[in-house]
Amino acid sequence: MNVSGMLPSDTLTNKVILVTGGGSGLGFSMSKYFLELGGKVIITGRNQTKLDKAVTVLSEVNNKNIYSFSGDVREFASAEEVLKKGIKKFGKIDVLVNNAAGNFVSPTERLSHRAFDAIIDIVLKGSVNHTLALGKYWIEQKMPGIILNIVTTYSWTGSGYVVPSACAKAGVLAMTRSLAVEWAKYDIRSNAIAPGPFPTEGAWSRLLPGDLKEKFDMTKKIPLRRVGEHQELANLAAYLISDFSGFINGEVVTIDGGEWLQGAGEFNMFEQVPKELWDQFEAFRKSGKTN
Ligand code: HXC
Repeated sequence: MNVSGMLPSDTLTNKVILVTGGGSGLGFSMSKYFLELGGKVIITGRNQTKLDKAVTVLSEVNNKNIYSFSGDVREFASAEEVLKKGIKKFGKIDVLVNNAAGNFVSPTERLSHRAFDAIIDIVLKGSVNHTLALGKYWIEQKMPGIILNIVTTYSWTGSGYVVPSACAKAGVLAMTRSLAVEWAKYDIRSNAIAPGPFPTEGAWSRLLPGDLKEKFDMTKKIPLRRVGEHQELANLAAYLISDFSGFINGEVVTIDGGEWLQGAGEFNMFEQVPKELWDQFEAFRKSGKTN
């Protein structure tokens, strides 16, 4: 697959977009496409060196429209500071993409309460901090706003071995749906994307360390038998923050090649039944015998 951008090149002109955790991974890919579509983009992260590297690459798309801010999403003061600096730089902020995440794979009983806190604080509290800071600003300024939260399919199924992340992402999804209704009167839309496996250097080396990548072939869990391409996610994200999706509010769009439903469908294991056996079943049925 070699997916290309799908939206007109001026789709995000006049939009200022804040992407938390935009210095790497999916946040970086989304930011790059937002820039290509004319958006002004602010990326945040904890590591200034990483942000600087990202800005160098993103400047090749548009060096006037990219700005970085180093801060910690866990601190409300950091969310307020990026808002202040973003407004100083670009005059306003229209869109918030809550993308920053932290995660590790571990049996839950091995986790300390501090480990649990670390993930909840980054994922849930980080999203709350930025949503609250931006939401108050939009409401005070009487301007429309758009929130896009990056969650995951285990926000609603739950998942063993990533329990802090599952709890936090479930909270972010609840916030997405709650504010979609409560803040609609202020013309603030709130949506989410639930990506399946989209390989990124950072997340995959942490979540599938050592030879686990070979041991657990993710593509086998996916009906489409492949992982996602970053541009596919970027296309969806750009659409959801654009005016083309102006009537979409409170939605979570899954983009996982059918992965989570494969595990959910009662008879999906029939995928393993070979053609010859189906032929036999059919022959029995047609002969009037039961099988
Ligand atoms: C168990 C761990 C741990 C690990 C840290 N801790 N890593 N426990 N397993 N792998 C514990 C520490 O021992 C400590 O507890 C507590 O957590 C806090 O640790 P710190 O190192 O101080 O935390 P911090 O610096 O805040 O960073 C932790 C982190 C970090 C957020 C997990 O590793 C990180 O920044 N990761 C990168 C981001 C990331 O993982 N992105 C991928 C997200 S993908 P004690 O008790 O010892 O003090 C995603 C979606 C997946 O979320 C969906 C796939 C389909």
